[in-house]
Amino acid sequence: MGIETGSATEGDSSLTPTSIVVDAGAPGRPISRDLWGIFFEDINYSADGGLYGELVQNRSFDYSARDRPEWHALTGWSVRAEPADSGEVTLRTEDPVAPQSPHYAVLRTSVPAGSVALVNEGFDGINVAEGGSYRFSVYARSFSDAPAALRVELADEDGELIADLGFPSVSGQWESYEGVLTVDRSCGAARLVLTVDASAEVGVEVGVDFVSLFPTDTFAGERNGLRRDLAEAIAELKPRFVRFPGGCVAHGLGLQNMYRWKDTIGELPSRRQNFNIWGYHQSMGIGYFEYFRFCERIGAKPLPVLAAGVCCQNTEGGPQAIPDDEMDDYVQEVLDLVEFANGPVDSLWGARRAELGHPEPFGLEYLAIGNEDKVNAVFRNRFERIYQAVRGKHPELTLIGTAGPSPFGDDYEQGWSFARDLAVDLVDEHSYKSPKWFFENLDRFDAYDRGGPGVYLGEYGSKGNTMLNALAEAAYMMGMERNGDIVRLASYAPLLAKVDRTQWVPDLIYFDNERVLPSLNYYVQQMHATAVGDHSLPVTVTGGPQFTRPPQREASVSVRAADADVAFTGLRLNGSEPLSAAVDAETTSFRFPVGTEDEDYTITLQACQTRGDEGFAVAFGDVDGPDHFEWSFGTWKNRFLSLYYRADGDLDEAVEPIPFSVETDRLYDLEIRVLGRGRRITCLLDGVVVHDVTSPDPIEERFSATAVRDSDTGTVHVKIVNATDRAVRTSLAITGVTGATGASRTTLTAPPGAGAAFEPAPAVPVGSRCDLSEPVSVEPYSFTILSLPA
Ligand code: AHR
Repeated sequence: MGIETGSATEGDSSLTPTSIVVDAGAPGRPISRDLWGIFFEDINYSADGGLYGELVQNRSFDYSARDRPEWHALTGWSVRAEPADSGEVTLRTEDPVAPQSPHYAVLRTSVPAGSVALVNEGFDGINVAEGGSYRFSVYARSFSDAPAALRVELADEDGELIADLGFPSVSGQWESYEGVLTVDRSCGAARLVLTVDASAEVGVEVGVDFVSLFPTDTFAGERNGLRRDLAEAIAELKPRFVRFPGGCVAHGLGLQNMYRWKDTIGELPSRRQNFNIWGYHQSMGIGYFEYFRFCERIGAKPLPVLAAGVCCQNTEGGPQAIPDDEMDDYVQEVLDLVEFANGPVDSLWGARRAELGHPEPFGLEYLAIGNEDKVNAVFRNRFERIYQAVRGKHPELTLIGTAGPSPFGDDYEQGWSFARDLAVDLVDEHSYKSPKWFFENLDRFDAYDRGGPGVYLGEYGSKGNTMLNALAEAAYMMGMERNGDIVRLASYAPLLAKVDRTQWVPDLIYFDNERVLPSLNYYVQQMHATAVGDHSLPVTVTGGPQFTRPPQREASVSVRAADADVAFTGLRLNGSEPLSAAVDAETTSFRFPVGTEDEDYTITLQACQTRGDEGFAVAFGDVDGPDHFEWSFGTWKNRFLSLYYRADGDLDEAVEPIPFSVETDRLYDLEIRVLGRGRRITCLLDGVVVHDVTSPDPIEERFSATAVRDSDTGTVHVKIVNATDRAVRTSLAITGVTGATGASRTTLTAPPGAGAAFEPAPAVPVGSRCDLSEPVSVEPYSFTILSLPA
């Protein structure tokens, strides 16, 4: 017994007839209830200047050249004295508000009746809205005998007053002063102005620190809170968990930059600020307590990622490990975090949590140790010490290991094998790949060993924000859900990116100070997360449209260098006459006038770079089209040798990059052997094989269907991705379900190339009803979810 829609062959013959059979009577495969979560890292100004509601940039005058070479304690601030030269601002460190944030600014007027002001530009301006109110606060102290006052103004770009308030008497001790500024007109780029006026007789000196301005309307109305619209957009993803604080931020660039949770809780001045690995500053205004609170507010489980006692492998000179004799303390720090999250209020760290205003435990269930670390001896040692201690004391926790930055290669293999040996619960693997790769790998997890650790796909994304990217991710998520017994958690990365402040594209949600711009990829995540199940059901698809990638017909060669002078000599394709070319800052690329239609070919050439810090690349195959190969020398700031496949315009690593730096003035001998138009590629550098890749028959599954049952709500969700240009008419048979005559339908559809970073999504999911007595029409380039009672 079951539901069956009409025959797919009825009606419009331009539609591809397809049948989807869902066995809703089968017990199905269990799916983790926590499968879909989010990855939050302070990258792309996600925290400071982003989700964190603070509107003042560099509020404690602790920016420095560690953050960015040109930054200093007054970055973000300017000084105004009236009349000119009537005052100055200096920086001091003696007797600060808190030693962790040593700098403060002193405003000094030297001429009676003069005034001196400090002006903060915010993060690309301060956005204030008509009718809004903003809580200002500052630590201030007077250094003069004369009475000292502080004026606070919000002014627009032309200096016109928007709102003001005053503190008529500043004492001789550090004290906190606060008040609310109410705004009666909107301004996207306001400035905060702090002014000290001289008394009539004498100059005045006032120190200020932690100059802060928050909207009173933060998410959940919290002080030290989060920007409401961004937090709401995140909450609407319905994440079951939040991974934080990274990513690379978690293990840091060098030991001093490692994220240490205890440094991030308590009063703001006593948090240890740090530079951000992504090239800016971490105020730690969002610290562990705020992360836990946010998770709680949005109904997501916290998933902290702690450094495995080693810092990022991209640290200059390689990863460094916490010294052996400091490891016991570090292990204790990890155990203390568990107590901080879950311990009773009479435990040391449970009491600290209660003191911060949260006596109830935070219900920590997951803990990840390490992020994309180099799986070498020192990593193994540090990881195992942490792991065994936490495992011994907290067998109730699900512990997560790490397996490198890529879904293949040495760290992936080593990471997995190490995790298997230790019987770690889950392994955090990462996949930043092209849509082509995702469509070729929808069955990747089918073959995973059910007897070993489960998978946490902790970071993934398909290198773009077009509809094709969104569909690749939708389909891959269906593949994970179908394997929900082994893939237990997954989170797209990165989550947020501020327009013009971005280090990593693509992302899920773009924003500026006024707007929130969810991408098509965001809507895919949301659709999946709002149609969850506890069991995946067997589904059979017949007759779905096939996708055939046009083969690369003619092969040629081109070379390029983004910012380097490189001479290429002796270029031969299958023994053609030798050709030479040079690229420099102006002529950044050159296509050689050579070509072959042979399936097998060999390219030889020499390259010599005479200037530039970044390297060069040799493209081969159909170099004029969107699909070809690239052998790149000196990728990632001249640190790797990489072989890429470029598919649909997206670059994707064909193999794990090899550590390598281009040496200036050195002549390199390059040889590329291609068989079967790229089925096998062998690259030789100075006569030595450095890459040898054989690709299996690439089959891109551009049409797929899966189904899940949600026993809590008694619903079956049928999910269909059609990433082809064919409209499909499908008969849908759902066995084991009776009575349902209709389904609610949600569809996201757009042309394959529509959608881009930093732009509003070209489409949003559209809801409708679907009559189950009719065949179901599935649009080209669409993601559809049909939900029916079962
Ligand atoms: O998501 C951005 C970065 O990608 C993460 O910080 C890191 O883990 C990965 O390499």
